[in-house]
Amino acid sequence: MPDAPSSDPPRLNDSEPKDRAMNDGASKDGAPDVGAPPNGDRSGASADRSGASADRSGAGPDLARRHFFRAFADQIVHTAATVAGVAGELQRTSAEAASVILRGDVDQARRGAAPRDMDNPPAGAPAGFRTAFRWDDRRLILIDQRQLPNELVEVTCESPGDVVRAIRDMVVRGAPAMGQVAAIGLALAADQLRDAGPGIRRATLSGTVTALRNARPTAINVRWALDRCMAAIAAAGELSEDGARIAEVVRLEAEAIIAEAAADHERLATLALADLPVPADRRLELLTHCNTGPLACGQFGTALGVVQAAVHAGRDVHVFVDETRPYLQGARITAWELGQAGVPHTIIADAAAGWVFATRGVDAVLVGADRIAANGDTANKIGTYPLAVLAQRHGVPLYVCAPTSSVDLATPDGSLIPIEQRVRSELTTIRGVVIAPPESQALNPGFDVTPAELIGAIVTEEGVLRPPFGPGLVRAVEAAAARRRPVAADV
Ligand code: MRU
Repeated sequence: MPDAPSSDPPRLNDSEPKDRAMNDGASKDGAPDVGAPPNGDRSGASADRSGASADRSGAGPDLARRHFFRAFADQIVHTAATVAGVAGELQRTSAEAASVILRGDVDQARRGAAPRDMDNPPAGAPAGFRTAFRWDDRRLILIDQRQLPNELVEVTCESPGDVVRAIRDMVVRGAPAMGQVAAIGLALAADQLRDAGPGIRRATLSGTVTALRNARPTAINVRWALDRCMAAIAAAGELSEDGARIAEVVRLEAEAIIAEAAADHERLATLALADLPVPADRRLELLTHCNTGPLACGQFGTALGVVQAAVHAGRDVHVFVDETRPYLQGARITAWELGQAGVPHTIIADAAAGWVFATRGVDAVLVGADRIAANGDTANKIGTYPLAVLAQRHGVPLYVCAPTSSVDLATPDGSLIPIEQRVRSELTTIRGVVIAPPESQALNPGFDVTPAELIGAIVTEEGVLRPPFGPGLVRAVEAAAARRRPVAADV
């Protein structure tokens, strides 16, 4: 039998997290390597540094762009200038604050947490939720989510090309986290271009934006974050001779995006929790799909943030975790985050959800979103749509918990959302073991679209929306935009 994911508690190395150069761990053909052994031979992994425009379908790479980004990635030097500043401080401060608030020990996660009894979490739980990334003086340091839960490993990005590859290869994943990381990637580019002429700078930044946007096409948060950064540049004068000022503007915008996300996610989680049923005589039973915790969202988490909020509020809660075939974000990452936090949870096969609804009693399904169309149709991890159908059949409310940065008012309905098609091997292998006939074709959409009529509520940082969602989404996006102050004015 293949090495199927185990239901054992998280297994972490006893050592400190390892720091790997970005190109370690990417698969030879750009394929996600969740199936590869954690300590297996990845020697062929980093052969392709062209990264940005690699064609995942294999239908033929755009060579000009590949060459451009190879050259671009290689010309990035490690200057003394940094893109850390306040954002790095925010990251550190928030991690420390979170660890104090949660009465946990962040360092425990770094060392490798001892297995916990999930039915009897320690007093004071949860503890140990980790942010997906740190932004150091000249580097972006990401937890390599491909390796979880077997290893806690960090990967370092020193150039925008590294960041493109990290998003494309799912070192970092989850729409809000990818948006934040994309903004940092652009800040790294702007920093590198301090001394470039205005025309070169504009062209290079624009190429970087294209590469970052194309890395994972369904998640709208990437485009949203980059649009914000580009708008800040435009406000500062995109052909300004002052490259240092442009770099500073992008850095500040990226910092603002990261800081706002933490606050927004906590707010939406609090709003969603207040809307959930309160069972009189038993614990709150939730079911979630994919991964929406801090690793997917940067700091707090969206749907999984509701679980954090519930535990902070002293609620007795248990979470059914869809394993989330084929990439197993649920079994690998959500279960790991909940385990680190001491939250009781049970992994189920995606196909077991109907049985769980019928026999166990679930109070609410909580999911995130990669893109919400103007009418409320929601693209989320593949498997969300059938889960929504089942939930409706059993009268269980489905909550989409996502910030306004996931709302795409320019896309009228879900049929127009681009759906990322992922590699065959993700479906036909598990940890490198082939589980399907080699001659069989495979279809592997990364996301599906849940029609708005199956969604009970969309919870953003601006409030809990009920159907019909259209008008509420417009108001929420406008309210969120009105709260923001352009950072270019500060520089
Ligand atoms: O392919 P992924 O892992 O980047 O998918 C994103 C997800 O984790 C989910 O679909 C999630 O619900 C939205 S992002 C918090």
